[in-house]
Amino acid sequence: MIIAIDGPAASGKGTLGKRLAAHYHFRHLDTGVIYRAVAKTLLDAGADLTDEARAVAAAMELDPEKFGDPVLKTQAVGDAASVVSASPRVREVLVSFQRQFAAEPPGAVLDGRDIGTVICPDADVKIFVVADPVVRARRRTLEARARGEAADEALVLADILKRDERDRNRATAPLKAAPDAHLLDNSHLDIEGGVRAAIDIVEAVRAGRQRV
Ligand code: C5P
Repeated sequence: MIIAIDGPAASGKGTLGKRLAAHYHFRHLDTGVIYRAVAKTLLDAGADLTDEARAVAAAMELDPEKFGDPVLKTQAVGDAASVVSASPRVREVLVSFQRQFAAEPPGAVLDGRDIGTVICPDADVKIFVVADPVVRARRRTLEARARGEAADEALVLADILKRDERDRNRATAPLKAAPDAHLLDNSHLDIEGGVRAAIDIVEAVRAGRQRV
């Protein structure tokens, strides 16, 4: 079984993906990490983020062993990822990595921006997570402060809105819900509530299938 979770920055889709994967004993891929890793390679080299040839080369040399680097989670790398990920050539290189991950048994949860629309259009369950940008900014600010980073909530909100805009309006694989995705608005849910709502969606889809 493949579960696709898409949604904007700081919507909680990563945590949700991890928790759903643990619940079903599936593997989990936070696909944002891939784009962040490509961006970090360019940042480390002092390269221009719009240098497509370098970004493609970085995508071809992706090293999953480095996906746990905490620097990848920073806002600066996230912003840079949003720039490199707009390149169709970079996305193209990363498609097979993601599809191979999705295809391996016993099942997988992938979260990102285009999983239900481009990477796994035949996913068994698609969930599109949304939350009020103000709520997302609040959560992201608290997370950053918990890590000991200084964070200004107004700046975090401005960053989230800028990133949403860029992700939604790019020509290749824009952020949008697949027509058959189930919408999950977690603005007023805590993590446990969001996980329960997602499990309900998966179980409803499974039950519907079994009746066919
Ligand atoms: O989800 P996360 O904030 O880690 O993603 C960082 C950036 O990577 C996003 O703003 C988006 O531009 C890009 N991304 C993408 N497609 C994905 C996952 C992330 O374009 N499947």
